[in-house]
Amino acid sequence: MRKILTIVGARPQFIKAAAISHAIRDLHANLTEDILHTGQHYDDAMSAQFFRELDIPQPRYNLNVGSGNHGAQTALMLKGIEDVLLKEHYTGVLVYGDTNSTLAGALAAVKLHVPVFHVEAGLRSYNRDMPEEVNRVLTDHTSALLFAPTQTAVQNLEKEGFSEKKIIFSGDVMLDNVRHYAPISNPTENRQAPYILATVHRDFNTDQPERLKNILAALCMVADKQNCDVLFPAHPRTRKILENMNEVSLSGRIKIMAPLSYLETLATARRSALVMTDSGGLQKEAFFCGRCCVVLRPETEWTEIVECGAALLADANPEQIIDAANKLWVHTPCEPTQFGDGHAAEKIVKNIEVYIK
Ligand code: UD1
Repeated sequence: MRKILTIVGARPQFIKAAAISHAIRDLHANLTEDILHTGQHYDDAMSAQFFRELDIPQPRYNLNVGSGNHGAQTALMLKGIEDVLLKEHYTGVLVYGDTNSTLAGALAAVKLHVPVFHVEAGLRSYNRDMPEEVNRVLTDHTSALLFAPTQTAVQNLEKEGFSEKKIIFSGDVMLDNVRHYAPISNPTENRQAPYILATVHRDFNTDQPERLKNILAALCMVADKQNCDVLFPAHPRTRKILENMNEVSLSGRIKIMAPLSYLETLATARRSALVMTDSGGLQKEAFFCGRCCVVLRPETEWTEIVECGAALLADANPEQIIDAANKLWVHTPCEPTQFGDGHAAEKIVKNIEVYIK
């Protein structure tokens, strides 16, 4: 039996890893996985609750690297992952998405000639100021198999000259998850509709006071106009900044709350009137749940959602945010046909099995 090492560290990766772990189990695949958690996210609400709720196997290794500057954080992960790869014999390393944990896993593995399998390959925002863009480009270039969630991702990789043999259109494991979990997700609190679900966690929004203030002001104006609340689950970084901000910026309509669990996110998104976010994952979850999304960024790597009219880019510009919210309030999004058939995880596991046979 071949053994692979799955590397996770941040909230969106736990969700994606759940789909693959369940597929390995359900397909009785001819491979086993050990999970290595870098410790990039460590609060219960950012980490352990996802393992419990999504029944993800407990990590065999936890590096407990915690928070830090990008270089230092990635370096600690790189060292810790290399130690594990030197100690045990893995036939492949599975990495997800575009976080510092992704890059560290890919780099440690490729240097030791262990094949890297990248889930969510080929995404591009073409904004190299974002650490995620650097992480995803570099990870793609280390990878033996590139699992592209959309045809746009396939085309991005082809344009960059990757061998066609490496590129596999798998579909999106997050669609697998939404199809499986959305029907069984119920909110723990009885929330009065309509409401907006909003999140902000990107450093370029949280760490520039003018941008954060503009976003909050726009959220208040949309909520006033629509006579509704804004449910605002706050990433710990955002919460710290909000706590130090002048309370005047926050209207009573914005309900700051702890980060939601995965099932709670789906339940809340499904019942919302509109989602407003700078998160890539939540943009997709909204779309998969049949909800429109105002994107609080100047660009997105999930261009399909904008092209089909289910999301609008509004950056941190109050006029654009209000205008986008008005337009999307009454809009019904199309079906998410561009993200595969809801069986991406099976395809990924089967292709890995063939590769490492
Ligand atoms: C990381 C990813 C981002 C992803 C996001 C999902 C990178 C470069 N960024 O961003 O792509 O969208 O995860 O949430 O890898 N903190 C805590 N407790 C925690 C985790 C973080 O308090 O459990 C605080 C710390 O102050 C930390 C800050 O949040 O410095 C940022 O955490 P970090 O993991 O560096 O980046 P994220 O913004 O979460």
